Amino acid sequence: MHKSTQDIINMKKRKEKISVVTGYDYTLASLCDKAQVDVLLVGDSAGMVMLGYENTIPVTMDQMCMFTEAVSRARKNSLLVSDLPFMSYQTSIEDAIRNSGKLIKAGADAVKLEGGSVMAETISSIVDVGIPVMGHIGLQPQTTVLSQGYKVQGKTKDTALRLIEDAKKLEEAGVFSIVLEMVSHEVAEIISETINVPAIGIGSGLGCDGQVLVVQDLLGMYDKIKPKFAKRYMNLSEDIVKSLESYREDVASGTFPAEENWFLMDEDELKKLREHIGG
Ligand code: KIV
Repeated sequence: MHKSTQDIINMKKRKEKISVVTGYDYTLASLCDKAQVDVLLVGDSAGMVMLGYENTIPVTMDQMCMFTEAVSRARKNSLLVSDLPFMSYQTSIEDAIRNSGKLIKAGADAVKLEGGSVMAETISSIVDVGIPVMGHIGLQPQTTVLSQGYKVQGKTKDTALRLIEDAKKLEEAGVFSIVLEMVSHEVAEIISETINVPAIGIGSGLGCDGQVLVVQDLLGMYDKIKPKFAKRYMNLSEDIVKSLESYREDVASGTFPAEENWFLMDEDELKKLREHIGG
C-alpha cells in the first residue's frame, strides 16, 4: 500500500523529515519509488525539464494528466501529488474542482496549487469535495516569476509576516502540507514551527519538515539552470553524453552490434532459404 496524506502528516508529528522529488515519466519515477522517497510530485516544472519551455506558464492540463498517468503506473510506495498548471484553477472554483478531479482520475492522490490567502476559498472548496491539497507559497513560478523573477521571499519583516499569515490561512483552508519555495531560512523555520501540517522546503533551509528537489537537478541532468539550493548527487548528463558518444563511435566503426546482440536463424531454415533464393 502506498503512503497516504495522513502518513505524511504523521511524519511531522513523529519529527521525521519528509523527502519529496519530482517525477514525470515511468522509468525515473519507478527508480524514485524504489528508493522509498516519501512523495512523488508531478510538478509543472515538467514544462521546463521535460518539454523545454522557458517557464511553467505554457503547461496544459492534458500534459499534466499524461505525466501523472505515467508516474501512477510506476509508483508503489510513495504518495503521488500533481500540480494544477497555470490557469487551471485561478479562473474559478468550478474550474479548480473539475481540473483537480482530472488529475485524481489520472492517478494522483492529491493536487498542489500555488498561492497564499487569496487561494484559501479555492483550496477549501477542493478539500470539501474530498481531494487533498498541497499548498505552495514563497516563490510561485506561475506568477511571482512573471513580476519579480527568481527572488528569495520573506527577507523583510512585512513580507515575512505576510508569508506566515498565508501559511496559517492555507492550514485553516485544509491543506495537508505546504511547499515553501525560496523562503528565507528563518521565516521557513518559523512557518514550520507555527503550522501543524508539514512545510516542505525548496531553497528554504533546514528548518522545514521536509525537502523537495526537481529530480533532474538532483541527478545532474538539466544544465540550463543550476539553482544554488539544488544539491547534485551525481553528474548524469556527463555520463549520458559520454555513453552516447561511445555508441555513435561503435556504430561508425562497426563494433556495435556484436554477435551477442543479434539473433540467428535455424540452420536448416537458412539452408532452405538459400536454396529458394538461389544463394
Ligand atoms: O513544479 C515543481 O517542480 C514544483 C517544485 C519545485 C516544488 O512545484
